[in-house]
Amino acid sequence: MSEAMLKREISLTINGKTHALAVEPRLSLSDMLRDELRLNGTHIGCEHGVCGACSILLDGVPIRSCLMLAVQADGHNITTVEGMCNEDQTPGILQEAFQEAHGMQCGYCTPGMLISAQALLTENNDPCLEEIKEAIGGNLCRCTGYTQIIESIQLAACRMREAD
Ligand code: FES
Ligand code: FES
Repeated sequence: MSEAMLKREISLTINGKTHALAVEPRLSLSDMLRDELRLNGTHIGCEHGVCGACSILLDGVPIRSCLMLAVQADGHNITTVEGMCNEDQTPGILQEAFQEAHGMQCGYCTPGMLISAQALLTENNDPCLEEIKEAIGGNLCRCTGYTQIIESIQLAACRMREAD
């Protein structure tokens, strides 16, 4: 059987744009985003669902894209870190806050942190400290000690409230 025959056709919306592509059934969603669509903002760390670097929003809910097959995302709506920019491609409120409050050092965990923070602030733009800690509890950072990440999310929340 040829390789093309083994592939499955899928169609999904990513950052507001519809994509139709043929993928191998065993291809992970994280590999599809990075290798097929060049959306390399989604990072891959453990590939076992532990580190959270590969987090994306699936229909608004944060998930680990290394644990999902691309074919399972057929028909769904995905947001990656690239979709968090403003329409003119300038950094969004959360991205700017991370930059200003030094919420990143090496930046490896940052896309996943931003996605988890986005999911939280979409639901609740005035979270308490415990709610922020819980929201990013599944995202590992080896650099910052988390304090600046939490301060970044608090800064973004403050700006979102002001913008409302
Ligand atoms: S790469 Fe997916 S959770 Fe670590
Ligand atoms: S900034 Fe380096 S792992 Fe978080």
